[in-house]
Amino acid sequence: MGGCCEPEGYDTMFGAAFSRRLTRRYRRRGLDRTARRIVDVVAENGVEGASVLEVGGGVGAIQLELLRRGAARTTNLELVEAYEADAAALAREAGVADRVTRRRIDLARSPEAVEPHDVVVLHRVVCCYPDHQALLTAAAAHARRLLIFSHPPRNPFSRAAATGENLLFRLRGSPFRTYAHPPDAMMAAAGTSGLELAYHRRGLAWHIVGLASPTT
Ligand SMILES: C[S@@+](CC[C@H](N)C(=O)[O-])C[C@H]1O[C@@H](n2cnc3c(N)ncnc32)[C@H](O)[C@@H]1O
Repeated sequence: MGGCCEPEGYDTMFGAAFSRRLTRRYRRRGLDRTARRIVDVVAENGVEGASVLEVGGGVGAIQLELLRRGAARTTNLELVEAYEADAAALAREAGVADRVTRRRIDLARSPEAVEPHDVVVLHRVVCCYPDHQALLTAAAAHARRLLIFSHPPRNPFSRAAATGENLLFRLRGSPFRTYAHPPDAMMAAAGTSGLELAYHRRGLAWHIVGLASPTT
């Protein structure tokens, strides 16, 4: 087992080198295409004054863009410590450090420790976490207005890729695993708190699912 709260292998998989790569990429090229789309969908649903919870937000790039678009504040939940210095530097550079809260916590295991937010985001996270039902059920319960998440498609190619990657992890002695969870089961878990499907985009590498509260 790794540190206080991460499933096995996260601390080596998502270490300082990974954080530096994400930071360099964001400084040079901004958000990746899927993250840009997520930001657009959140903005189209109303981001002005919103509180945003990002689970597994890494260095927090999506949050910086949402704060620029008018979000009031963001909370980042992470399992590992390695991003903190880079995330703090990026938030300082963007002039939003006082509106970003960063916590080391697993929402799936300790849902009661986190307050609900207007918007909940998970980008490239569900595929790293073994219990997608617990994670998405908790994420949905914390989303007052909108839950949006990305996940890899589940087809013979992606399943073969996950099997290949997991074989490599095993050979290297890493307990980390990647997952192509069933989309229907993820959708069902994300809908447990009454959120309804509002956005669905099927990209080649990433699908995006957005669920909104029917009362907004
Ligand atoms: C592939 S990285 C993606 C980071 C960032 N979202 C991005 O796209 O650049 C996945 C991240 O999700 C985090 N993560 C996975 N499950 C989590 C959970 N249950 N709670 C908080 N963070 C989680 C991991 O620690 C890791 O940093």
